[in-house]
Amino acid sequence: MGLKNHRSSAPSVPADVVTGAAGFIGSRLVRRLLAEGQSVVGIDSFDDYYARAAKERNLTEVRRNPNFRLVERDLLGFDPSTVWEPGCRIFHLAAQPGVRGSWGAHFERYLRNNVLVTQRLLEASVRVRPTRFVYASSSSIYGEQPAGPTPETATPNPISPYGVTKLAGEHLVGLYARAHDLSAASLRFFTVYGPGQRPDMAFHRFIEAVRLGKAITLYGDGRQTRDFTFVDDIVDGVLAAGQTEKADGAINLGGGTPAGLSEVLRILGELAGHPVETQSGEAPPGDPRATWADTRRARELLHFQPRVSLADGLRRQWAWQTSADAMAPGG
Ligand code: NAD
Ligand code: UGA
Repeated sequence: MGLKNHRSSAPSVPADVVTGAAGFIGSRLVRRLLAEGQSVVGIDSFDDYYARAAKERNLTEVRRNPNFRLVERDLLGFDPSTVWEPGCRIFHLAAQPGVRGSWGAHFERYLRNNVLVTQRLLEASVRVRPTRFVYASSSSIYGEQPAGPTPETATPNPISPYGVTKLAGEHLVGLYARAHDLSAASLRFFTVYGPGQRPDMAFHRFIEAVRLGKAITLYGDGRQTRDFTFVDDIVDGVLAAGQTEKADGAINLGGGTPAGLSEVLRILGELAGHPVETQSGEAPPGDPRATWADTRRARELLHFQPRVSLADGLRRQWAWQTSADAMAPGG
């Protein structure tokens, strides 16, 4: 059975369920839910896409909280509904992320963890009905789009196998919601960064290079732009989506002020106290030229208002990554 929420001021409510709870964004979400007084069941398989130690670090603080229970299981290896209760909210963040690694033999992992797992969770939701199902989708479903902010009504055009699997997940969420009257939303996250960022992502790699006195590798001509979004702003949007049934279908969650990698390098140079060294790497297939979220829907339905500027967010990620905390196992 899932944990109950024992807050004295409120009637007992079922624990929230967070899949991918040990991951970068999932663990930040768990922290916030616990801080709001919720009980949380986190499910994570600690897959080997990156080091277990990093995921353990993400969970160090929440593991001490008696309102948190971690279920270390693969979502395909058991019936997830055995650990949740009717009336809970499901925040489905578990996935195989990463745009550039989704080609070739790796695709099997993407198909399994992004498509099959999502279908399995939706089937379980039909049996043990949650009040909300919030799915972590991705800007990658858009691929290349006309210049300017991309609204949710744009025709999806993924250019990476990863984007295809995240879009398939969205379609599954939409059709199960309609066929079985589930209350669900697909949130399209735009390149998320901040403390805890995955080690394969650009800012993590850039800061690590500077820390070790190495050159930063810029893929292609380095003129890509991204609507970089600070992780706590994403979590604000996810929490808001968990609270209102009015938020259905697809909703963009993006920082709203896209930046080029040159701007990122300029800020990192300021943080380092010297200009950063760069080298060119091959342009990887599947990497969109630009992303930019039109957030009108998120603002209207979720009162979404990103708060953290790129300079401030990068400073926070820099502080985390260069602190002893980020390096020590379990720290
Ligand atoms: P992450 O890899 O840090 O977290 C995902 C977690 O899911 C991992 O801890 C992993 O062990 C777990 N997981 C994977 N397959 C599982 C399975 N079969 N059973 C149980 N657990 C499993 O990734 P993240 O960056 O935190 O991304 C979280 C979600 O947000 C993903 O759905 C991703 O597609 C989406 N997203 C992320 C970004 C970003 O910029 N980080 C942007 C858009 C969308
Ligand atoms: C990120 C996440 O990794 C995906 O999981 C997510 O779904 C996606 O955001 C999204 O928004 O949907 P990406 O935008 O590629 O994907 O994020 P980064 O890894 O931070 O890369 C940003 C840019 O930096 C890309 O153009 C990439 O080519 C570039 N980059 C990355 C480099 O030039 N060098 C590097 O070493 C790494």
